[in-house]
Amino acid sequence: MFRLHRMLSCLRQPLVQRFGTNGDKSHGESLRHGMGSSKVWDNIYSSKNTKDSSHFDWFCSYKDLQDLLLPLLHDMAPTMNHSGQPLHVLDLGCGTSDVGLGLLCNSPIPLLISCVDRSKPAVLAMREHFMHSPVMPKHKYSHLEYVEGDVTDLHHVHSSSVSLVLDKGTSDALLRSGTEPAQRLVREALRVLQVGGKLVQLTDEDPDARLGFFEKVGAGPAVTFHDLGEKHGLTYYAYIVTRSS
Ligand SMILES: C[S@@+](CC[C@H](N)C(=O)[O-])C[C@H]1O[C@@H](n2cnc3c(N)ncnc32)[C@H](O)[C@@H]1O
Repeated sequence: MFRLHRMLSCLRQPLVQRFGTNGDKSHGESLRHGMGSSKVWDNIYSSKNTKDSSHFDWFCSYKDLQDLLLPLLHDMAPTMNHSGQPLHVLDLGCGTSDVGLGLLCNSPIPLLISCVDRSKPAVLAMREHFMHSPVMPKHKYSHLEYVEGDVTDLHHVHSSSVSLVLDKGTSDALLRSGTEPAQRLVREALRVLQVGGKLVQLTDEDPDARLGFFEKVGAGPAVTFHDLGEKHGLTYYAYIVTRSS
């Protein structure tokens, strides 16, 4: 049985107090009020030392997710890699997360990883970080790029061209401004996904709330979810939406 629906405000408070995986609490107060505001995120990313090799990752990092993501890519490769072209992966609202870099270094399947965020300081920080500390892709045809853009309007991405869309904490931030922006993210993700491609949302929002959200956006029947376990007293989930025809 799903746990009882918890109010969003209850969910978000501990998340903010626990800001990041590297224990940075200095921005907790501004996030508590402004998680939906681009200015707040710009300030946070601007204040990071870009030469610092540590990333700010929202509640979990690549290492926590690799056992989920690499098998997904492995399973979709035979059907989506006909032409030998890299599989296209989008990380929506990437911030300065290490997930894109982790995939680049560890995926034996060739990937084009496009990390998108509307925060210019985040995109510049990651480009600069990548330039100062280049990494060796696991597959020689893999490629990583950081793109400034709005994840609720992916007009620069062709329909049915992407294999995997990641959303780690981004819908949670968008939901702060109401359900419409978060619904647009899901609609755009489903538009750009190939048939059989997957949207993976990582969040602490429990199934009775998030499944209702997917129902409203028309993606209900295509969703499965996985309990990722507990961290800092909260349970995290991966919601996986598979694009059907
Ligand atoms: C909770 S953070 C998660 C960052 C990153 N995914 C991680 O796991 O560390 C939310 C991110 O979404 C970005 N964001 C919010 N709304 C956005 C939008 N409409 N378009 C692009 N990025 C957005 C913010 O700039 C921020 O980097």
